[in-house]
Amino acid sequence: MTARTGTLAIRGRLLSFDADPAVEAEPHAVMFLEDGIVVVKDGVIVEIGEGPALARRLPPGVPLVDHRPHLVMAGFIDPHLHMPQTQVIASYGTELMAWLSKYTFPEELRYGDSGVAEEASRFLFDTLAANGTTTAAVYCTSHQISAEAFFHEADRRGLRMIAGKVMMDRGAPQGLLDTAESGYEQTKELAAAWHGRGRLEVAITPRFAPTSSEAQLEATGALAAEFPGLPIQTHLSENHGEIAFVADAFPWSKDYTDVYEHYGLVRPRALFGHCIHLSDRERTALASKGASAIFCPTSNLFLGSGLYDLAASRRLGLTTGIATDIGGGTSYSMLTTAAEGYKVLALKGQKWPAFEAFHMMTAGNAAAVGIADKVGRLAVGLEADLVVLDSRASEPMRRRMARVETLAEELFALMVLGDDRATVATYAMGRKIYDRYHAGHATLAPKLDQAPWPQPGEGGGSAQ
Ligand code: GUN
Ligand code: FE
Repeated sequence: MTARTGTLAIRGRLLSFDADPAVEAEPHAVMFLEDGIVVVKDGVIVEIGEGPALARRLPPGVPLVDHRPHLVMAGFIDPHLHMPQTQVIASYGTELMAWLSKYTFPEELRYGDSGVAEEASRFLFDTLAANGTTTAAVYCTSHQISAEAFFHEADRRGLRMIAGKVMMDRGAPQGLLDTAESGYEQTKELAAAWHGRGRLEVAITPRFAPTSSEAQLEATGALAAEFPGLPIQTHLSENHGEIAFVADAFPWSKDYTDVYEHYGLVRPRALFGHCIHLSDRERTALASKGASAIFCPTSNLFLGSGLYDLAASRRLGLTTGIATDIGGGTSYSMLTTAAEGYKVLALKGQKWPAFEAFHMMTAGNAAAVGIADKVGRLAVGLEADLVVLDSRASEPMRRRMARVETLAEELFALMVLGDDRATVATYAMGRKIYDRYHAGHATLAPKLDQAPWPQPGEGGGSAQ
């Protein structure tokens, strides 16, 4: 269940995004306090202000955790990853369709065992927390039990998570196939049991058009119509072989996106993974119906799928989120993911400033997923899911930071050079779920010049 913490104050260099810096001028988009405090009550942010003034006003007895000189931001949101692929990550030598049949489907067969799904869910949540990721949109397997195990563990930890049982009724080993009816019924049962419980949401999750019959896509569309508020997640236009397969299997369709449109799956809170090879017609269709494209750079590079076109999406008003896509993707770190995103866009001749990248990893992803009223920013009334980041987490980072003069430069170097080592602490509703100094990173004990800041009688908190 949701964690409750009473009242807590967290001090640090506060960074948050009130708008997309690609759209709004920087002073309106970026909220930065070099010394700020976030006050959390019962897991929710109740006040934000300048550190010195707010510290003096804190009622006696309120614990103050001083994270200076580290950055305090909203926790990262990862809007596309696969829980059963933690042991598929880094599998050699194939592109998408062969990768699925050679590595992914055989591995996912193991997840009919709830013990396997429980263990993987525990590993996944530990690893996400270590990377500062507090919310994810997650594919389980086609086994209902895999989603049950995931939700149980997420609920126990008080995490805001979105997940679904994959629906797939063709094109995979028998043990992974459901049917149009069973996929529909099981998703409905999951929604009844878990959607809205604690901080959980159930996503309607057809894997992708190649592994669903028309009957299943129709049943999926019926679910979508019955549950208009539920997130939807699937894959779209990742790979040329996949696109050719869809054109063949749905000969009546104008294009790949049209298949999902036809079944009523393109709408707000529908998350389309990859969207690499879209036409402008498809981008416009997704945008006009309020759906989001999810850019998965490490996966797209690793599987040789192609280069996402952010400029084209922006030109046509299509919202973009950024995600790891574990285990086609190769890193759990949203920092590393953004760094690879920057390189993908560089190959497209596009620029991606750090403010825009950090916005996308937090508030932008929250908006893409439809949870911007809950998480993604440091703002009064939002849930206190936070990450504390150390821009000097490794010797190469410390060395680089000596030449940094602006916050934008610092964030860019943090994103390009950082990874889980940069996570000092992660909070879910104000409760610490990860602490670097207690996580076995022996090499990352505090350095002398990073020692906890003195606490001259300001609420007497413990330093981290
Ligand atoms: N398309 C359908 N299933 C998958 C998957 O598991 N990973 C990726 N990257 N693409 C997919
Ligand atoms: Fe995926």
